[in-house]
Amino acid sequence: MSAGGAGGESRLPDFFRLQRFDEVDSTFTVAKQQAEAGAPAGTLIVARRQTAGRGRRGRSFASPAGNLYFSLLLRPTQSVVEAAQLSFVAALAVADAIRAVLPAADVRQKWPNDVLLNGGKVCGILLESAADIAHPGKLSWLIAGIGVNVVSHPEGTDWPSMSLHAAGATTVDADAVLRPLAAAFLDWMRRWEADGFMPIRDAWTRDAVGIGEPITVRLADKMIDGRFQELDADGALVLCDETGHARAITAGEVFFPAG
Ligand code: BTN
Repeated sequence: MSAGGAGGESRLPDFFRLQRFDEVDSTFTVAKQQAEAGAPAGTLIVARRQTAGRGRRGRSFASPAGNLYFSLLLRPTQSVVEAAQLSFVAALAVADAIRAVLPAADVRQKWPNDVLLNGGKVCGILLESAADIAHPGKLSWLIAGIGVNVVSHPEGTDWPSMSLHAAGATTVDADAVLRPLAAAFLDWMRRWEADGFMPIRDAWTRDAVGIGEPITVRLADKMIDGRFQELDADGALVLCDETGHARAITAGEVFFPAG
């Protein structure tokens, strides 16, 4: 691992303290070390490639050079439940950044925090956090890990994947995505801190796929069918079954019936 220069740092808002690495196992590893060592919120670990990128549900996240991989250290003072809403903040920021570099793109949100570009998953978002032992119910740190498919995307995924290059933005590189993404993240996070989850929920819902439609949700141990009623006030997916019973789901993966 080697920390590189701070190229491009001046173009990020002051909040961010950018550190660049050529190759890491995962940007989470570096960000966690720094979190435990007392680094401030805004510490931003960017890698050109990852050898052991981590995805949701214990999956690996393929991380070849050319795409954008970063972990952003935050120290939210909100409750553990509220802090999880930062995954929606991140998803809104990714969508804004994609629209900034590809203005005509069809960019949509897919629960819980996938961003779709022309129907394909264009980024991965994963939060990791540590409890604050001294303050039960609060966090010591939270790290938002974000990977954006800029030049390439994986094949053979459960849900189709997409990259910015495949969608036509062939001159865009990872830095060109990082700058608007960082700015949008800060804007949405400040909005969330000031006004709570409702404006985030409203913006996310406006661009979401599947609300009001029949869906299948893959949970850890089973698949369940129903209608996607809404995103609730905490960010859970409210699924209504055929008897009208509503259930709030906090973790899972959404699929749509074929055809
Ligand atoms: C997902 O499964 O969709 C979430 C993937 C998150 C990938 C990003 S890339 C930067 C950061 N470092 C990691 O190891 N994972 C996250």
